[in-house]
Amino acid sequence: MQALGIDIGGSGIKGAPVDIKTGKLLADRIRIKTPEGAKPKPMAAVVAEIAQAFKWKGRIGVGFPAPIKQGIVMMAANVSQKWVGINADELLSSTTGCACRVGNDADVAGMAEMEFGAGKGQMGTVIMITLGTGIGSAIYFNGHLLPNTEFGHLQMDGKDAEHRASAAARVRDSLSWKKYAKRLNKYLNEMEKLFWPDLFIVGGGISKDHEKFLPLLELNAKIVPAQFQNEAGIVGAALFSQKR
Ligand code: BGC
Repeated sequence: MQALGIDIGGSGIKGAPVDIKTGKLLADRIRIKTPEGAKPKPMAAVVAEIAQAFKWKGRIGVGFPAPIKQGIVMMAANVSQKWVGINADELLSSTTGCACRVGNDADVAGMAEMEFGAGKGQMGTVIMITLGTGIGSAIYFNGHLLPNTEFGHLQMDGKDAEHRASAAARVRDSLSWKKYAKRLNKYLNEMEKLFWPDLFIVGGGISKDHEKFLPLLELNAKIVPAQFQNEAGIVGAALFSQKR
């Protein structure tokens, strides 16, 4: 069985058809820059463009960078405020002509890792953290998701943690890997104090550079890179399209 997985981010929108039994991409992914202002209609048009490029007719799963309840965008940190209150399931379904199901980007990325990747078979508490424009979080206990956790907005040094420790913050503040690891360590330490996870999984584009910063972290819990790296969002979104 196949579904189209779309990962919507603050800087890019990516998609590919996925075999949901194996988690494998069935074609090279397409990436299109997120339109300036990240407003609903232009972003929906990009999703439709990706669906058309694959001549897609079936279900589409979408990961979106905000808490989502029954398809509705609850808050917007890295996209336009115009998204707040919009039923993203409906907007994307009507724009693409396909049945779309939208969930939080980190929650769906976690689904891919729990089903096929670094969290496969892992019991206890697993926290997936995605480091990109913001910080996304997903918490799983014995394989079950607690949806819409927003740990990127935990306060750190008087700011949202994502403004200090996301991948974008590393670039913006021109941090060396050592300095960045120090900040990330502080953030993950805070998470440890609150949740005592058994495993952290680190995803997002930066996870391809995991050798540069994961070995520098000092934590109680085991920490591993996402096996799907930046593709967890696409694969997880495709899986999410099938869940009811
Ligand atoms: C949003 C989250 C999202 C994360 C990663 C945060 O700013 O509030 O919902 O998961 O960015 O995209």
